[in-house]
Amino acid sequence: MKVFKIIPILLVGFLIGCSSGDDVTGPQVGGPTEGTDPDPDPTTPPTDNGSDNSDPFTYDATQNLKDVASFPIGNIVSASKLASVSSDNTTFKTLLNQEYNSITAENDMKMGNMFTGPDTYDFSDGDAIVSYASANGLRVHGHALIWHSSIPGWLNNFEGTDEEFEAQVEGYVKATVAHFAEATDGEGNPIVASWDVVNEYFDGASVRTSLFTQRIGADFHKKAFQWAREADPDVKLFYNDYNIAGEVGKRNSIVNMASEFDAEDIPIDGIGMQMHLNHDWPSSDLPIAIQDIADTGLLVHVSELDVKANYSDDIDELTVERAEAQEVQYQRAGYYYTTIVPQTQQFGLTLWGFRDQDSWLYDGGSDWPLLYDNDFNTKITHRGLVAGLNGESPE
Ligand code: XIL
Repeated sequence: MKVFKIIPILLVGFLIGCSSGDDVTGPQVGGPTEGTDPDPDPTTPPTDNGSDNSDPFTYDATQNLKDVASFPIGNIVSASKLASVSSDNTTFKTLLNQEYNSITAENDMKMGNMFTGPDTYDFSDGDAIVSYASANGLRVHGHALIWHSSIPGWLNNFEGTDEEFEAQVEGYVKATVAHFAEATDGEGNPIVASWDVVNEYFDGASVRTSLFTQRIGADFHKKAFQWAREADPDVKLFYNDYNIAGEVGKRNSIVNMASEFDAEDIPIDGIGMQMHLNHDWPSSDLPIAIQDIADTGLLVHVSELDVKANYSDDIDELTVERAEAQEVQYQRAGYYYTTIVPQTQQFGLTLWGFRDQDSWLYDGGSDWPLLYDNDFNTKITHRGLVAGLNGESPE
């Protein structure tokens, strides 16, 4: 991959004298990864056989994800990583700018981080992410305004009335959306293009019981979309959820919700399919689900793609067979999204992490869900995704 060929040149002077950084390189996963660059000459154009590495788990990429896709390709960031000049984070940022054109805050723009007290907000991490995006020509997808798993402690224990609780949440949604609408590029386009307004409203096919259903009511999701739209008439508003491909009941509930919103004039622009997949699941449901969601006519965002290779915890280290199955699953995700979703509805595809060790699913090294190994080498999962985005059929 080009980044590995240029990094030594660009960074050699810079890295000398830098501290070892705030990320500890963990155990090697995905096979031997030493000697990341077999080609000492950085001017040599990349070969296109895509497989000149000697180990079966990594390959030399010749195409950047964003150059292959006709829609934005995203990954996650944090304000602290973007601010860090450790060697790992410098490599991370080089790769981010090279392969991606959209970013999502992994945690920094969640309610739990930004809603610090009654009528009190701390947007500083989000602002840092937005200014990085602005300086580097990246789009920001806002994630997530209301999610049962990211509620600040004070709001959880809020002792006011239900009306006062609702007023707090309404104030938060409006203030947050309005604040992030202010940042624009040179042509007046917003940096924050979109928000996941409500995350994981459903639990299976049913409405999830949460603090929000208890204190606002089962229609809190509709109110949230209306509040967000009042704060910004243009930003794209998404509903986001997991297992949309794997659970047909949840999928049907989401499709019904979209019709209900339409009938009741509740504003919504798109649906985020998180896409936390396993190497062998879902299988035939994956294209069906993408089709069902595209049939709503709304924008479709693959919002948090990763693929577990060890869901059942049945392997101690990654096997070639498992890595290849995972490669195919990445290819399927890219292929079906590219070929099934009409172009006008393709909002983008976002990966949920860089190195395996950065993944929320890493689990102490017992899974390898992402596109780069712990030395930032491109894994064959990357090759699978590139093939899928290129329209190469996996079946
Ligand atoms: C996860 C982050 O990756 C973790 O760092 C954090 O501890 C918990 O949240 N669905 C979502 C994401 O919508 O916000 C979650 O992100 C992963 C599941």
